Amino acid sequence: MTPASAPSSALAGLRWSAATSALQIEGSRSADGGGRSIWDDYLAVPGAIRDGSTAEPACDSYRRPEDDAELAAGLGLDRYRFSIPWARVQPDGAGVGNRAALDHYSRVVDLLLDRGVTPFPTLFHWEMPSAVEAEGGWLSRDTAERFGDYAAIVAERLGDRVAHWYTLNEPAMTTLQGYAVGALAPGKQLLFGALPTAHHQLLAHARAAAALRSHGAAAVGLVNNHTWVLPLHDTDEDRRAAGVYDLLHNRLFSEPLLDGSYPDLEALGLPPLPVAEGDLAAIHGSIDFYGLNFYNPTTVAAATGGPIPFDIVPTPGAPVTGFGPEWPIMPSTLRDLLIDLRDRHPQLPPVIIGENGASFPEPDRAARIEDTDRIAYLAGHVSAVAEAIEAGVPVEEYTVWSLLDNWEWADGYTQRFGLVHVDFETGERTPKASYDWYRDLIAESRAMSTSVARS
Ligand code: BGC
Repeated sequence: MTPASAPSSALAGLRWSAATSALQIEGSRSADGGGRSIWDDYLAVPGAIRDGSTAEPACDSYRRPEDDAELAAGLGLDRYRFSIPWARVQPDGAGVGNRAALDHYSRVVDLLLDRGVTPFPTLFHWEMPSAVEAEGGWLSRDTAERFGDYAAIVAERLGDRVAHWYTLNEPAMTTLQGYAVGALAPGKQLLFGALPTAHHQLLAHARAAAALRSHGAAAVGLVNNHTWVLPLHDTDEDRRAAGVYDLLHNRLFSEPLLDGSYPDLEALGLPPLPVAEGDLAAIHGSIDFYGLNFYNPTTVAAATGGPIPFDIVPTPGAPVTGFGPEWPIMPSTLRDLLIDLRDRHPQLPPVIIGENGASFPEPDRAARIEDTDRIAYLAGHVSAVAEAIEAGVPVEEYTVWSLLDNWEWADGYTQRFGLVHVDFETGERTPKASYDWYRDLIAESRAMSTSVARS
């Protein structure tokens, strides 16, 4: 689909969403007794954040939840994906829930429901309470149980109105970037010593899913980040390196959920995961849908040395986003990935695209941002989703990252992903051209669903 063309009829019936996460938009971090998280600790490390910024006030959303709910409703979204930070609810990572914080999220839920938008919260978008990290964080099995307790506290308060939940956002990024190489909090550089965090996160998801269901949840899942891995050259060495990367980024996190087993790590000379009896059964039975975030393919070559057997290299010939060669743009790889996932897992549950979007260099202030690059990126990926649906992949929902320009983790305020421009000094929100494009796409696909239903 080019931006001007009519949407494919395969999109009729698809649900539409947009996403944000708490640290990236909220500000007011210590308001209402909010506790310290690993991101407060990471921010204090000199040089950790590219522009030296903090996440204060970001979009000031903690004080302006009505504004965000209005923008979500103005798009005509079916659902809005936002996150609830563990360290606000349990400032010390244990014990009863912090009432003021729970009141706040209860209000966010009501603001959305009042405007006809279904709230779809994520319980962990990378903000581990520092107190839990101090006791091992995701390296400790006990964290899975603590996460289950936290999920129960949130569900107890919101479960009367919230039926759809994501537990974890992108456990692969936490393992690879957070614990293996240190590019995200908690900034550890354990290389393959990070692998136990993969299992403990999946176990935490299973514990949380059980708690949410016991409070009446209708649909629970987590959201994995997937990439389509391309070998740089058609050689055995590069294909092998691509296979290792595919295993670590994608299969390590998808196969236990979808097949009930881990890929063979020992065959690659890697240590076994700390799996206890019953863990895999709990993980395998734990999802009602498969959440998948997609941004870009990854090109991989055999390593020229060092402890890691692959190098991530630029994708030849591909245009790039504001991140440069790290983020090549190839929408067809989303289609290829979805079809491959269905081929590998014929019993694939409904798929939800939990994030897709791009940053591009944009002015800090402008009356109106004509973000044609973003519209082309999104239109290309929506077309890829339509093609996958036509090929029989059960995609039910598509989510744009992000509703708002926001604070992009270690990249600070240097990357703008929003459908809405945010002035980080005044908090003023100004919809970009992509906001209007997405609103129109949603309206057109709804009109198609109505005519399909009538015919
Ligand atoms: C994360 C978001 C992030 C986006 C763009 C995803 O991996 O879930 O929090 O802002 O990518 O980098």
